[in-house]
Amino acid sequence: MTNINYELIDTTAPAPEQEPERQRYFIAKCREIIKERELEIGRKLTFYDQTFGCQMNFKDSEKLNGILEDIGYVKADTEKADFVYYNTCTVRENANVRVYGRLGALKNYKKKNPEMVIAMCGCMMQEPEEQEKVKTTFKFVDVVFGTHNIFKLAELLYECLSGRKRVFDVWEKTDQIIEDLPSDRKFGFKAGVNIMFGCNNFCSYCIVPYVRGRERSRKPEDIVAEVKKLASEGVVEVMLLGQNVNSYGKNLENPISFAKLLTMVEEVEGIERIRFMTSHPKDLSDELIEVMAHSKKICKHLHLPVQSGSSRILKLMNRKYTKEHYLELVDKIRTAVPDIAITTDIIVGFPGETEEDFQETLDVVRKAKYDSAFTFIYSKRSGTPAAKMPDQVPDDVVHERFDRLLKVVNEAAKEQNGKLTGNTELVLVEEIDEKDDTMVTGRLSNNSVVHFKGDASLIGKIVPVVLEESKGFYYLGRLSVNG
Ligand code: 5AD
Ligand code: SF4
Repeated sequence: MTNINYELIDTTAPAPEQEPERQRYFIAKCREIIKERELEIGRKLTFYDQTFGCQMNFKDSEKLNGILEDIGYVKADTEKADFVYYNTCTVRENANVRVYGRLGALKNYKKKNPEMVIAMCGCMMQEPEEQEKVKTTFKFVDVVFGTHNIFKLAELLYECLSGRKRVFDVWEKTDQIIEDLPSDRKFGFKAGVNIMFGCNNFCSYCIVPYVRGRERSRKPEDIVAEVKKLASEGVVEVMLLGQNVNSYGKNLENPISFAKLLTMVEEVEGIERIRFMTSHPKDLSDELIEVMAHSKKICKHLHLPVQSGSSRILKLMNRKYTKEHYLELVDKIRTAVPDIAITTDIIVGFPGETEEDFQETLDVVRKAKYDSAFTFIYSKRSGTPAAKMPDQVPDDVVHERFDRLLKVVNEAAKEQNGKLTGNTELVLVEEIDEKDDTMVTGRLSNNSVVHFKGDASLIGKIVPVVLEESKGFYYLGRLSVNG
């Protein structure tokens, strides 16, 4: 929620041209409609979001939810709500399949609730074929927009509600970054902060640059102002978000490096922990390693997607580094920041991947000693260069390699996890333990999960915990009484 007084906006005047004033005007217009509906039906109107995909999408949903709350909708925990939106992902094909699978149920809810408005947005909607599919096959979807114009939700919703019609508005690209719109944060004590949007890398398998557009960095002063505001609201941990944070700031009017941005964020009082995601190995600078090594706030965790261990495949993937370069980088980071946890993303079954290439990947997993790895089966995305490459690997071969990879990843992870057993480490407490409500769950600086006896009063606090036992992928601990 924002503290804007929408009652003061003159909704009889024409809509302002400037943002964010224009959207505030449409929020005020929607509020009037929603209030009227509430009086007619004698209850509050509710909303529900279903978000698929990465941190970027979850961050976008927080913004959409903020707009909906300012409009007057109340968050519900069921899809039987008055406004339901699906924020979609398209990075792998199964993400699309899941969305269409769930969409069918909404049709029935809508039959029973004439108030219901259904919206779809996110990466999938940036693809013309998917948009067309929704237009023709899923006629009960009322509003469709893309990744570039989420800030316009109130305007699109107003069009839909006032005209009782379907609204489709997907932009191919944008160079706008709209600041100062509402946002509804999921956690009070930690928050994601967008530092840049889009990606210029065009890895040959990846659809992201097509659906999220070219790289655009936010100005450092806007980012720092947001972080300061978050700190004043009680946030202690920020996660700086971008598809490739290491190329942050290169295209700004006054270029600045990601490492410099980190030092600026580090100065914000009240912020205790800084995380960031995602780092492309080709752009990870010595300056960044230096800043990480000396920082008191940057967490000891680096997500460094390798994708493949074979230099030949990496070239076909257009990743712009070799196996050797990657391993040297890992060494350099470990020397500078000895207790850092490194995690990664790996794709199995990229076109042309041979058993030898795959062995190189296993070799990197063993040598890099990852704390954990997200492993993916290559998914052919139409429009990407890899989709047209010869020698797509047969399904059975890919699955068999995938299983073998998982084993090696788990072995490496087991070796890494548990290294801190016996230590007393600081833990940011995040929630009551899902399985045992006499315990709480939190995270170490290196992102490992810790469970220990405690209650809700600890949530959002950073406390010392003795790590008594490693359970492979998490620790069991005890609150340290001596501090
Ligand atoms: N197939 C499988 N995995 C993919 N990723 C991106 N595109 C594809 C694809 N076509 C993975 C990469 C990336 C992560 C977010 O998703 O490993 O780092
Ligand atoms: Fe996709 Fe590569 Fe950009 Fe990551 S860096 S979003 S994998 S194109």
